[in-house]
Amino acid sequence: MNDSVIRSIDPCETSINELLRLEEASWPQRLRASESTIRERFRLGHEVVGAVVNGSLVAAAGFVHTSQAPTDRLTFPTDHRTYSSLPASTPVCSTFVYNLCVVPGQRGRGAVRQILRAVESEARARRARFLVGDARCPAYAGGRIQSRRRVERDAVFREALDNWHASGVHPTDHVLMRDPVLRLYYRYLQCEFLFPVSGFLPEDTASGGFSVICVKRLNGQVR
Ligand SMILES: CC(C)(COP(=O)(O)OP(=O)(O)OC[C@H]1O[C@@H](n2cnc3c(N)ncnc32)[C@H](O)[C@@H]1OP(=O)(O)O)[C@@H](O)C(=O)NCCC(=O)NCCS
Repeated sequence: MNDSVIRSIDPCETSINELLRLEEASWPQRLRASESTIRERFRLGHEVVGAVVNGSLVAAAGFVHTSQAPTDRLTFPTDHRTYSSLPASTPVCSTFVYNLCVVPGQRGRGAVRQILRAVESEARARRARFLVGDARCPAYAGGRIQSRRRVERDAVFREALDNWHASGVHPTDHVLMRDPVLRLYYRYLQCEFLFPVSGFLPEDTASGGFSVICVKRLNGQVR
């Protein structure tokens, strides 16, 4: 993706329209952020890093710096709406990332790696100790998100996730790597998978409503 520019997206009218177009191209309606949600997130102090090709926003991820720690299961958000609508807070402990997406025509061209790197660098600049993601896991039930590539339901992965959720016993990373989204986060962030949250985003039927919370420990170090 040599012709792309990675940049911070300002909360201006033009950017909000670009983000709406990106949401429309990248997500089915039930999973899209609405205009009011996008505006509210900016109002709460959230930021967006995006990839721009020939003047068009083709990929992005939203994030917020928060005093919350992902390791505290009791205070961790139980649903995607809460997770992606926390007000920015200090002292910064974590950077919560959400809505990573690429328009179908630009997938497989390196935008994801560049965006995650940029968000990690923002997290380090704020001396966050954790970079946190809510990973979809479409191998659970199978499906397709605005893509020619369908993710097939994977019975082994599904059983492992169900057991993890029911027993708290962590499956091997080998089993988790059967899911393409978890594999993507692992590849780019070398993250740990902390726990699955059932009913996190019920509209994400491919993931059976589950999200797997993943974390990269930054130890508050600026790189
Ligand atoms: C998931 C997504 C961001 C990947 O973008 P991309 O540009 O294809 O990613 P990259 O080329 O850097 O990495 C390829 C990896 O992405 C994952 N991936 C590719 N196609 C995918 C699909 N249809 N569904 C889920 N994951 C997919 C796989 O891990 C793949 O690696 P593999 O070829 O070894 O299986 C993109 O498919 C997308 O925007 N999907 C819709 C939104 C979404 O599901 N976002 C994840 C939020 S948690």
